[in-house]
Amino acid sequence: MSYKEQIELDKVPSHVAIIMDGNGRWAKQQGELRTFGHTSGVEAVREALTAAGEIRVKHLTLYAFSTENWNRPMQEVNALMDLLVSTIMNEIDSLQKNKVKLTAIGNIESLPNKCQLELKNGILETAANTGVNLNLALSYSSKWELTNAIKKIALDVQEKKLGVEEINDKLISSYLSTSNLPDPELMIRTSGENRISNFMLWQIAYSELYFTDILWPDFKKEDFYKAILDYQNRERRFGKTSEQ
Ligand code: IPE
Ligand code: IPE
Ligand code: MG
Repeated sequence: MSYKEQIELDKVPSHVAIIMDGNGRWAKQQGELRTFGHTSGVEAVREALTAAGEIRVKHLTLYAFSTENWNRPMQEVNALMDLLVSTIMNEIDSLQKNKVKLTAIGNIESLPNKCQLELKNGILETAANTGVNLNLALSYSSKWELTNAIKKIALDVQEKKLGVEEINDKLISSYLSTSNLPDPELMIRTSGENRISNFMLWQIAYSELYFTDILWPDFKKEDFYKAILDYQNRERRFGKTSEQ
């Protein structure tokens, strides 16, 4: 039986988050420039998105560019920004056809204007779609997001819109950029690195983590299904005992 056939469709996670890593190393292995790895990574995005749609994952968050990634060589940053623009432009028809709803989290205002425009256009055009929500984390980092949330909460307390006693787990979640999303049940990272790299620290408090050595451009639908199966074979106890 294929991985996909073994998946229990009534137990599919509603939100899967992926740290797409390994583009640069993949390109290097082929004797190519790092940017070739990024353009090749787009195909893996299609694979993951299609796979998510086929098994009815509702939200797919992809970590595409971190706050820390601004520190890469300017040429690489520019190439990534150009790739974002061209990919949204090229894929918009296919997103519509597949009813994908595009959203984004992160410091979007820090992106070059052309990226912001293309992104806003994609988000607006797909807003009514009812298929997979493809949520791109761009210029995102968890510490950036939490810092903003804390500032907003402090301001609301100062302006007496909020009482200190009202601050709880749920309220904090509502001040994050993921306020409309459930926490990811599953978080995948490719490329063999076993770290979170400043991604959704609050939201993954109880997520199942799945690490694979596959470099992102090599990631295929089957790899996505394999991760889902692995997730389905785990026992999520949330602090309780197995017997409960
Ligand atoms: C992931 O691949 C893409 C981004 C972080 C933008 P990398 O570019 O980090 O590739 P490696 O990890 O250097 O191989
Ligand atoms: C994490 O990958 C960020 C994205 C996938 C966008 P990095 O390659 O930037 O992370 P580190 O540097 O290995 O932690
Ligand atoms: Mg990397």
